[in-house]
Amino acid sequence: MGKVLDRIEQCVQAVREKTDFVPQAALVLGSGLGGFADRIQVSAQVSYRDIPDFPVSTVPGHAGRFLFGYVGKTPVAVMQGRVHYYEGYSMEDVVLPIRVLGRLGAKELFLTNAAGGISPELASGSLMLLTDHITTFVPSPLIGPNEEALGPRFPDMTEVYSRRLQELARKAAKAKGVALQEGVYVQCTGPNYETPAEIRMFKALGAGAVGMSTACEAMAARHMGLEVCGISCVTNLAAGLGGKALSHEEVQEIATRVSGDFQGLLWELLEGLEE
Ligand code: HPA
Repeated sequence: MGKVLDRIEQCVQAVREKTDFVPQAALVLGSGLGGFADRIQVSAQVSYRDIPDFPVSTVPGHAGRFLFGYVGKTPVAVMQGRVHYYEGYSMEDVVLPIRVLGRLGAKELFLTNAAGGISPELASGSLMLLTDHITTFVPSPLIGPNEEALGPRFPDMTEVYSRRLQELARKAAKAKGVALQEGVYVQCTGPNYETPAEIRMFKALGAGAVGMSTACEAMAARHMGLEVCGISCVTNLAAGLGGKALSHEEVQEIATRVSGDFQGLLWELLEGLEE
């Protein structure tokens, strides 16, 4: 067994010592969405610290744990807290939790994040369904020896964000009366925000929103054959578009303000998943 697979299996085993819960869907909670966890009927929780060699977030205020439970009748695994490349973790570390979720049985992965809005339709506070992504500006998490047990050496990325799940997200948004924009997400390394010149470049490349996570996780999940859905909360206009400096405080404030609508949409979406 390869080094990466070995490590994943060790993590899976550590989780399995605490619970035999098999999730159908996995959900990664981005900034401001921590409260979603309070609504779930929790069957088990596993702190990242109790999993050997598991990456733990260095960002203050990020709970680091898996919750296992039900959204309606749908069995879900929720990641409360994720790690980012800018924290100094390798891409292999960053996507490890996603691979563990896949090996625990998740078939569908829902990724959420806070992002800067590039396209003019994306005002601060809007939600954007990811239709595709650009990861060219961060290293691929699939670099290194390939684990055939996870997926192929040269995985196709034609439909990273499942058209089926996109359609379900649109329906869920409609049902909840929540406006849902759509666009392409570009991942940067962070931790610095972008420059106005970089944002002009991303706009020319067709990106709708920019952030520091998600696309690498989506890629690792697709490698394993999971179906992926991504939704960004646009917390600010990207650099140079809003005429003011960007701050983490503003990102948190807007993410918290939008979290009611965002949580409602996610709940509707997860609850409505067919077995
Ligand atoms: N850029 C990158 N990441 C972000 C932003 C941004 O403007 N806002 C929230 N996360």
